[in-house]
Amino acid sequence: MLKPEMIKKLNEQVTAEMYASNLYLQMSAWCEDQGLSGAAAFFRQHVPEELAHRDKIIDYLIECDAPVTVGAVDAPPTEFKSLVEVINKAFEHELKVTAMIHDLAEMALDSKDFNTFNMLQFFIAEQREEEVLFRGILDQVKLIAFKGETGEAMYLINQFLQRSAQAHPH
Ligand code: FEO
Repeated sequence: MLKPEMIKKLNEQVTAEMYASNLYLQMSAWCEDQGLSGAAAFFRQHVPEELAHRDKIIDYLIECDAPVTVGAVDAPPTEFKSLVEVINKAFEHELKVTAMIHDLAEMALDSKDFNTFNMLQFFIAEQREEEVLFRGILDQVKLIAFKGETGEAMYLINQFLQRSAQAHPH
């Protein structure tokens, strides 16, 4: 039996994963609008990935015979100053999700809820992978001193994101 507080937090995580999916969808659409098809493909690829995270938690709640309550999802931002801002915001969002997952894991351990702790291992590994990915992109951004301006640096980052999308098909 899952504890009520854990059920509440897992349902909040379901909403957070849906928000992440919508955020990446909006980022992808913004990139598309700027003619950045590589960056758009990269962010679009994250949309189903986040929905798969949502489903994993929902399936776990169902397995535990715990109620699933699908909450309201806030609208993501629609305007961005530059591609650099988009990348930074995506990275910040992943850090926020990591913190949420770590809180859940801590709560599971504290209450000796080892099944939930075990389920969360997937998310802990996944978040580490996401952070490594975004840090790698930010390293490239720094490497070519990209500030979001149109030109060769923008072209290179777009290409890099295109290759990254092709290298990590999910
Ligand atoms: Fe569901 Fe990108 O973390």
